[in-house]
Amino acid sequence: MLHDKVTPYNSEEEKNTQVAKMFDNIANRYDLINSILSAGIHKGWRRQCVKLLKSKQPISILDVATGTADFAIECAKLNPKSILGIDISDGMMEVGREKLKKLKLDSLIVLKNGNAESINLPNDSIDAIVVGFGVRNFQDLEKGLSNLYRILKPGGQLVILEFSYPRLWLVKASYNLYFSYITPFVGKIFSKDVRAYTYLTESVKAFPNNQKFIDILNKLKFKHTHFKPLSLGIAAIYYGEK
Ligand SMILES: C[S@@+](CC[C@H](N)C(=O)[O-])C[C@H]1O[C@@H](n2cnc3c(N)ncnc32)[C@H](O)[C@@H]1O
Repeated sequence: MLHDKVTPYNSEEEKNTQVAKMFDNIANRYDLINSILSAGIHKGWRRQCVKLLKSKQPISILDVATGTADFAIECAKLNPKSILGIDISDGMMEVGREKLKKLKLDSLIVLKNGNAESINLPNDSIDAIVVGFGVRNFQDLEKGLSNLYRILKPGGQLVILEFSYPRLWLVKASYNLYFSYITPFVGKIFSKDVRAYTYLTESVKAFPNNQKFIDILNKLKFKHTHFKPLSLGIAAIYYGEK
């Protein structure tokens, strides 16, 4: 199935609306479930992404699909002047704002409601853009990515972290087992939104990963594109420059 046809509740509503509702529903448990399901590995993945930005020392950073702001918080280590996080789920950002206050990062990192596909930041205005586990949920993937391209300064960097689909049969078999049974089970117990974690499985399977995703970045004119599989291919970092 085409990835944009995979939606959280299979309802008549637009994918964006369904996705925002779903993340509002699970916002209070999102961080907890993330840590249980990934045994904390996701933190190391974000650290690797941020390392890719270090050499160019970005002054302005945009964290798209910021959710509870973990990626934005990791980006603070680069000492930029500003970090803007945007998301379509106010519920997720509420949790994020609490974290920022506790970490005293709330003046550096600002979270605002915004959709990657339509946010109207000026052309050529941002040094670096990160997206963590967000692009899979975009309603129109190419529209979202081309909007990010428009916003980036020439030479600016895009780093995307996303679940992937492993190739080695043994890893693939364990992965299928994990995503088909354990993820929905943990999601059901902790989040009370049964659909959220079956949607996760379906959307990961339908997503154009690895070289297919690089082909899309190339089509949209991103340069120096490449990807790096993480943890035996269960996730990947995608990189491109304007
Ligand atoms: C799985 S969470 C990831 C949160 C965070 N980036 C992280 O690394 O944990 C995905 C987030 O993407 C947001 N999202 C989905 N589609 C979006 C869009 N088109 N524009 C902005 N945010 C979007 C959702 O609301 C949700 O908070």
